Amino acid sequence: MSFPNLRPRRLRRLKVLRDLVAETTLTPKDFMLPVFVAEKAREPKPVPSMPGYYRYPVDMVVEAVSKAYDLGVRSVLLFGIPAYKDEKGSSAYDKNGVVQKAVRLLKEAYGPRLLVATDVCMCQYTSHGHCGIVKVGENCGLGEEGCWAVDNDETIEILGKIAVSHAEAGADIVAPSSMMDGMVQAIRRALDSEGYKDVAIMSYAVKYASSFYGPFRDATHSAPGFGDRRSYQMDPRNALEAIKEASLDVEEGADILMVKPALAYLDVIRLVKDTYPHYPLAAYSVSGEYSMIKAAAEKGWLEEKRVVMETLTAIKRAGADIIITYYAVDAALWLREESPF
Ligand code: PBG
Repeated sequence: MSFPNLRPRRLRRLKVLRDLVAETTLTPKDFMLPVFVAEKAREPKPVPSMPGYYRYPVDMVVEAVSKAYDLGVRSVLLFGIPAYKDEKGSSAYDKNGVVQKAVRLLKEAYGPRLLVATDVCMCQYTSHGHCGIVKVGENCGLGEEGCWAVDNDETIEILGKIAVSHAEAGADIVAPSSMMDGMVQAIRRALDSEGYKDVAIMSYAVKYASSFYGPFRDATHSAPGFGDRRSYQMDPRNALEAIKEASLDVEEGADILMVKPALAYLDVIRLVKDTYPHYPLAAYSVSGEYSMIKAAAEKGWLEEKRVVMETLTAIKRAGADIIITYYAVDAALWLREESPF
């Protein structure tokens, strides 16, 4: 059948008709809100490169999520900014560390009504800002990486300790983001041996070495002091490699997979979803994606609400079941209003 019998415009004539046939629907339950808690902060501190976003003192973490909760968002992803950093990132697994305290406060306030996920990585906690134990004098002669390397196997043992400390504080989900090989296996083993067999792992399985993380590193003081993360995070030129990364994490026991960033990687989201349709897939719409829209909106060049709703819808349409977004609160509010479509 073809024109004039087929007229796709018939189904676009009225808003109610468009809504009736829409293939993708967002709800606040799709969103996970990243929350930054800073050990030294005494009041909410605005993040200059992320207008409208704050670093919160630990004792204000409940307040920090209450707006999102009241709008129907039911999950948060915690990031800590510790008072103390060293080469081994030891404040990351301190029982009374910044994230561990925040988890306890959230669980006391919300109990099982709010899902608390924690980022498991070392970059905010190490003095050099890398996502693991740095060995100087390694990889010499390999060209641009210079004379240092992040030691994979030592790092994953520490990631296991960090995950256990988060679980002990009450985290429901731990989310390893360091892109170390075997990190999911090491964390699963550590959790199981300490009796946390029901704590789920949401693995940043497919995480690219992206320049869209810039504002986040400002927000969390986690930029590497030297070098960059290209020797552990994925090369933006690769899509098929995502299958290798995701399959390893599936075998190692990941419960939820993640692709990060989102907007420039919609093809990868679709690929991972099609390869593992039976695994929940999260997509992380990262700090640069937020700041880019904010900046254009502040200049009056883009309509913020419409662009955000279009972007989030695109991420879901590409195959994401969970969207980690700094726009979670605004989007949840906008979902109560007339849709922009
Ligand atoms: C930590 C981590 C990063 C992000 C989340 N976890 C930064 C990085 O890998 O450099 C980025 C989040 C964002 O940009 O919103 N490894």
